Amino acid sequence: MTGKALDSRPVSWQAWVRTVEIEPSLYAADFSRLGEQIEILLRAGARVFHFDVGDGHFVPPVTIGPIVLKSIAPMILEHDGAIDCHLMVDDPAHHFEEIREAGGSSVTFHYEAVSDPQAVAARARELGLGVGLAFNPETLPEDAAAAADGFDLVLCMSIHPGYSGQKFMPEAVGRIRTLRQLLPKHVFVQVDGGVGPDNVRELYLSGANLLVAGTSVFGMEDLPRAFRRLVTSLA
Ligand code: DX5
Ligand code: ZN
Repeated sequence: MTGKALDSRPVSWQAWVRTVEIEPSLYAADFSRLGEQIEILLRAGARVFHFDVGDGHFVPPVTIGPIVLKSIAPMILEHDGAIDCHLMVDDPAHHFEEIREAGGSSVTFHYEAVSDPQAVAARARELGLGVGLAFNPETLPEDAAAAADGFDLVLCMSIHPGYSGQKFMPEAVGRIRTLRQLLPKHVFVQVDGGVGPDNVRELYLSGANLLVAGTSVFGMEDLPRAFRRLVTSLA
């Protein structure tokens, strides 16, 4: 792992995020055209890509992992982009090193999956990874916020994690508002699940500045148009 782009990875979310980011979720991509679709979105202005790792235990499906990450990381990192890895897995720390080696920029693991979030976050930091804490619809935002000291981002799930293409849970709006009030300003609030043109602005105004979009980007015929429509909805 000696590529120039990988060696020059920024280590802080503060360096990647332009106030607010629409993050295309690669889980919803057409995997027969993955590189081509990433290239198209990079050209349309996307910089932070969301990469979902599911282990078949914490969530029912096995999704994508370091082998796929390794093949796409160089093209994203060469454009000064970042790959935000969402680990929907039982034992997140077990995967950190491989994700780092494959070119991942950050790891976000679930509050529900670990007994000591701080210890797991410290392991990610040792490897030079950004770190996020995700929480499920059943978990109180107050509990996630209380555990998130020292994290770069907190991810409020607006669906039950596992699959792309699910319906947005409207109660996420209030949960994001609560989260935003509880977290220090420098911690980013991310939302994932069912985000699209109808709710993206409301989510942003509620306090989310990392907005993950799977089906609302990759489910459209014209990817740049779908991406830009989400970006312009925020203005
Ligand atoms: C599913 C993943 C999401 C998923 C979102 O649990 O965490 O990132 O790709 O897809 P949409 O935007 O279609 O709900
Ligand atoms: Zn995700």
